[in-house]
Amino acid sequence: MALWARRAVRALRLWGPGREPAWACRPRIAGGRTPISFSAVVSSAFGNGGDRKKEKLFLQDIAELIRARACQRVVVMAGAGISTASGIPDFRSPGSGFYSALQHWDVPYPEAVFELSFFFDNPRPFFSWAKNLRPGNFRPNAIHYFLRLLHDKGLLLRLYTQNIDGLERASGIPGSKLVEAHGSFASATCTVCGKPSPGEGFWAAVMEDRVPRCAACTGVVKPDVVFFGEALPERFFLHMVDFPTADLLLILGTSLKVEPFASLCEAVRSSVPRVLMNREAVESCAWRPRSRDVVQLGDLVDSVERLVALLGWTEEMKDLVQREAAKLSGQDR
Ligand code: APR
Ligand code: ZN
Repeated sequence: MALWARRAVRALRLWGPGREPAWACRPRIAGGRTPISFSAVVSSAFGNGGDRKKEKLFLQDIAELIRARACQRVVVMAGAGISTASGIPDFRSPGSGFYSALQHWDVPYPEAVFELSFFFDNPRPFFSWAKNLRPGNFRPNAIHYFLRLLHDKGLLLRLYTQNIDGLERASGIPGSKLVEAHGSFASATCTVCGKPSPGEGFWAAVMEDRVPRCAACTGVVKPDVVFFGEALPERFFLHMVDFPTADLLLILGTSLKVEPFASLCEAVRSSVPRVLMNREAVESCAWRPRSRDVVQLGDLVDSVERLVALLGWTEEMKDLVQREAAKLSGQDR
């Protein structure tokens, strides 16, 4: 059994699904200050029986829990909605999503573009979409940098993303904190002989509307993104430890339509607050509302900027975005 899997099993034994996270059952000593328990923070956030019922949480309560470090093992689930502000269309938004732009391709249904059987028959719709995602064409946005700030402050346990645009890495979040559940364009493999294919040849072909071919056997080269029916990367199984030990779950910009990713949102303890930030409510069987859910609908950048302001991190965010933008434009020269 791989080392990480052994660690996962051992950690599960330590934490076990039945046990409450530390802050929920005993005072937490946060940085030498007086012990802070979850209920103390929650009742201080909005009083005992004040104008809001105890179990209902709001975004400001989440900010209070983070500021008081009553939540410091934050797991994030991200979807295409975190990258639309960078100019990358999502999949299912009516009119603007990638799936609505497929009419001129002869595809039986939108998801077919990401199915191997269709890909082997006609890889062109996929590669026409891939052109949009050439690394370096897009920049991380405020949402990526908020997640980077969570990492910089030692609060990010893991970021599970469905996105393959690589913008989480580009924002400076280390690979150890990332699970790219649907793979990425960082590498590509020949679908016939299995040889890894160098990126430059792959992208040169894609940008010239040619189907990338293997130098060794002329088989079609496919980027290492996960197609429907393909196995998810091994790192996805870190969720067996991350979700049961998380003390806050942020779900950002996803329709929660694709399994097994979507059902991860059910894998945190019932006492763990979950914050869903999305343009519209999620109509997905994976999402069963709980009493400690916070649902923040509307534009994701606005919602994240509101949380950042409630956390008192606005100036830090501005500095980070400026520093990173300068770094990325320095790389372009
Ligand atoms: N602000 C708030 N919400 C937004 C924004 C925005 N600026 N932009 C998009 N969204 C929301 C959309 O309303 C939608 O609910 O993000 C969600 C994106 O959903 P999808 O397009 O279905 O993308 P995602 O959930 O990531 O899809 C999952 O499906 O096709 C597969 O493999 C593909 O990884 C992808 C998976
Ligand atoms: Zn080959």
